[in-house]
Amino acid sequence: MDGRDLVRSMKAVGSVRAAQGLRTVRAAWRRRRADATGLPPRGAERARVPGQVRDVEPGPGGGTLRFSRSQLRIIVAVNGAVFWGWDGAGPEPSYALAGRCPEPDPRAVLEPDKDGGWRVVAERVTVVVSRNGAVEVRTPGGVTLRRALPPRWWEPVGGGRARWLQRSEVPADACFFGLGGRVSGPRLRDGTYRLWNTDPGRAFAPGDDPLYITMPVQFVVADAGSHLVFHDSTWDGTVTLREGEEGAGSGHDRAGMSELRMDGGPLRCWVIVGTPARVLLAWASLTGAPALPPAWALGHHHARWGFGSEQEVRRIVAGYQEHGLPLDVVHLDIDHYDAHQVFTVDQEHFPKLPELAEELRRDGIRLVSIVDPAVKAEPGNDVYDSGSAEDAFVRDGSGELVRGVVWPGDVVYPDFTHARVREWWGGLYEERLAQGFSGFWHDMNEPTSFAAFGEPTLPRSSRHALEGRGGDHREAHNVYALCMAMAGYEGLRELAPQQRPFVFSRSGWVGMQRYGGTWSGDVATGWPGLRASLSLVMGLGLCGVPYSGPDVGGFDGSPSSELYLRWFQLGAYLPLFRTHASLRAGRREPWEFGAEVLEHARVALVERRRLLPYFMTLAHLARRTGAPYVRPLWWGAPEDRALRDCEDAFLLGDCLLVAPVLDPGADRRAVQLPRGLWYDTATEQTYEGPAQVLVEAPLSRIPVLARAGSVLPVRGDDGALELEVWAPAPGRGGGGLVVPDVGDGWEESEIERYAVRWEGSRVVVEREDADRMGEPPHSVRVRGLGDR
Ligand code: GLC
Repeated sequence: MDGRDLVRSMKAVGSVRAAQGLRTVRAAWRRRRADATGLPPRGAERARVPGQVRDVEPGPGGGTLRFSRSQLRIIVAVNGAVFWGWDGAGPEPSYALAGRCPEPDPRAVLEPDKDGGWRVVAERVTVVVSRNGAVEVRTPGGVTLRRALPPRWWEPVGGGRARWLQRSEVPADACFFGLGGRVSGPRLRDGTYRLWNTDPGRAFAPGDDPLYITMPVQFVVADAGSHLVFHDSTWDGTVTLREGEEGAGSGHDRAGMSELRMDGGPLRCWVIVGTPARVLLAWASLTGAPALPPAWALGHHHARWGFGSEQEVRRIVAGYQEHGLPLDVVHLDIDHYDAHQVFTVDQEHFPKLPELAEELRRDGIRLVSIVDPAVKAEPGNDVYDSGSAEDAFVRDGSGELVRGVVWPGDVVYPDFTHARVREWWGGLYEERLAQGFSGFWHDMNEPTSFAAFGEPTLPRSSRHALEGRGGDHREAHNVYALCMAMAGYEGLRELAPQQRPFVFSRSGWVGMQRYGGTWSGDVATGWPGLRASLSLVMGLGLCGVPYSGPDVGGFDGSPSSELYLRWFQLGAYLPLFRTHASLRAGRREPWEFGAEVLEHARVALVERRRLLPYFMTLAHLARRTGAPYVRPLWWGAPEDRALRDCEDAFLLGDCLLVAPVLDPGADRRAVQLPRGLWYDTATEQTYEGPAQVLVEAPLSRIPVLARAGSVLPVRGDDGALELEVWAPAPGRGGGGLVVPDVGDGWEESEIERYAVRWEGSRVVVEREDADRMGEPPHSVRVRGLGDR
């Protein structure tokens, strides 16, 4: 951006701000007024518990238990997932589920248990219900993983929606993860976490909770086994977690506790038990396979709010090229819109966008466009006009359009919970495709409405279609972005059926992985922000959303060279690798931080490019198995407590262990290694796990270790796929899966299976697929042989 452009955009921001200030005051008042009259008053309430079990009715996969004041339906599905719902709640309708509910397991039957209780015994899990309505989930060996106490409801005396509370106990040694994207994880310590998607309105820092993506999903890991629990209600709520305490063999353990309080919605939940891999597999079959990103989306992205013009985009791209830095994607933020209006282009500063896109495309660089949901409320704006004709925008109880404030000023909001509205919105991406964009960055979809006071979102009383059931924003808020993602994704499938859509979204809910990924949102520049980046990616992965990454360098301010570099080095190993920053932030191009940083950033970029086939393999495996690319160290050994305690390193797929530097001034760091032999990929030095080891972490790189025996698909100098094989431990074997991509369309690629073994002093790599035994069809390079 040259000086004039900068002044121009600063001025623009200044005047927009002043006018916005007033609007946000008005919007906040409107919101308050709407809710004062539009929501039912909270009157007297009656508390209720289930009471005693009266009789039971066996049904497929379990059955129904009738209590004196409620009834409980239990279904154990064929994939081992357990469902239970109170007050007659069934699994559907649900925004989380991916189509049809899994079939009930015909072998799972309801039978009497001791003390007047009942149980359902299935192959992978046993569910025991006490006579007063506590529900216990046990391993096949009979160890309790979770005990949900009898729930409690508070019902308005005159009838209507009930609030409820579900308290559960977990083993004393259990650790909690998940709940969507949380800053303070990955392991969630004692505290209360809110379930209400929220734009913090500024760069977020440690302690900011909730953020953009909240999910009533917990991943719980204990010695006895791990499980995932999902309470399928989209309403506002809180989860209070308290880790347990072990009585050091005294027999006086204090159980861990989770207490869920919801403002409404059905009281129903799913529990999946098993190894982390099995849990995520069943979870993906329940809530949907993660969308497969196109290959280019696994490369390096450069974004900025405020490129301001086509020339500036060209200057940045030229900078990457001149410095020999691989670049795959450039993102255009709201400054390329005409007066911040979605689905428009500022013709003065971006007069020939399709040509620019074409030019970049020839250099192998794609363009991604930001897409905000709010539409400028002004006749003459095409989207407003066509949306009005469709009756697409959210209204209040008296039928008036609900108006909020976002970048373009006064705005209205499409009701994405209506199939017809989604279809209309999906069609609007045609304009974006014609401008040459290949991917879409959904923003501000919590949804955000700037407010001088109160919550920065729509009034809770706003009406939504909710697929024809009808309801208000209290129920629709948390799934607003999920439904927007659905609209964009489905629209793109129609408009460009040959290509896999690339959509990533700031907000979302359970099931969002079906349509794409997400990013950190506005993470504050600083070392805590760097740490939070990893927490968000890991937590989301355990909730089934494998593709995400931070704003490398942080959203606001100016990182020190060291912080920028360390962030860059971490980003290079995360699924979404994107530099991005705010209009007012300092530069984020690698050459802006001095020669040394430039050199090290180049190494990270080149390594990312080399690892693309591995990322592609991980993307395919995520789609097929639900396993996130970025996994906690305990992924393969949840019973290893030392691994559970190590939150600052991660496994990237099966092959690599990445130990980012998250503190200033470090030139080495401690890493907790899982069992087995590991190689430092830079020095080939070996380490034997389980152990805590100190590894070198000079400014030039972060430690990356390879598992002995692993097969890493990489891109060779000629661009062809090569296998980098890490020698197995002496006397041991190895192997791995490789999924070569077959272009950005829908063709299924074939999984290649490799086995690695020692033959005398040679390492032999063979393809193991039944019909293709023998030599791999790629060149192989064995590493870690040392002097062997
Ligand atoms: C929001 C987004 C950020 C974007 C900005 C302007 O703050 O989180 O990424 O740059 O809006 O569109």
